[in-house]
Amino acid sequence: MKKAAKGRIVLAVGLPGSGKSTWFARRGIQPLSSDTLRRWLLDDETNQQQQRLVFQVLRRLLRQRLLLGQPCNYVDATNLTPRERAFYVRMGRRYGYELHALFFDVPLAVCLRRNRRRRRRVPQEAMERLARKLTPPSLEEGFVRITVLRPGRAARVLSGKSARGPASRQSARPSANGAGKKATRGKSKC
Ligand SMILES: Nc1ncnc2c1ncn2[C@@H]1O[C@H](COP(=O)(O)OP(=O)(O)O)[C@@H](O)[C@H]1O
Ligand SMILES: [Mg+2]
Repeated sequence: MKKAAKGRIVLAVGLPGSGKSTWFARRGIQPLSSDTLRRWLLDDETNQQQQRLVFQVLRRLLRQRLLLGQPCNYVDATNLTPRERAFYVRMGRRYGYELHALFFDVPLAVCLRRNRRRRRRVPQEAMERLARKLTPPSLEEGFVRITVLRPGRAARVLSGKSARGPASRQSARPSANGAGKKATRGKSKC
């Protein structure tokens, strides 16, 4: 019989300005965040000079959490491509955790508009380059659940086999943030 998962790793996927950090903050969640690590290590969350180091530290922290058996593990980073996400899928398999994605499916124009209002802005060319790189997460990558969050729309949940039987789609009521809380909570402690 298949062992029950020890918990979940929830990866945010989305462009800068798509609302990832706000979503976590509104729920009182403190995710492992690449921006926070840039601030801690480099005193500047926009400093992109030490990407390797930042993600090494983030992954090391996540591994430690999994070794401790923490049930709810959130990663706040852009995680734009299957290649960037594959590491977490492998780690989940290795330590017995389910992989979930929170896909912030927000048009580039909206992200650019929000970005312009920010104090520390991502340059427009960088935003456009990232938008070209963005590949929506898929169940085939190894996610058991993908929650798609669009501004002003109901959250859409795609579930793989191990999450709730056969693959399914469902919607939740829209919230101010375009994300139905219930849809992402499920029955677990997270
Ligand atoms: N659902 C939303 N509706 C309107 N503005 C939002 C929403 N979510 C975030 N914002 C605003 O957009 C900006 C970027 O949000 P943030 O959460 O920092 O994005 P990210 O972490 O994806 O870069 C912030 O100024 C935030 O206040
Ligand atoms: Mg952020």
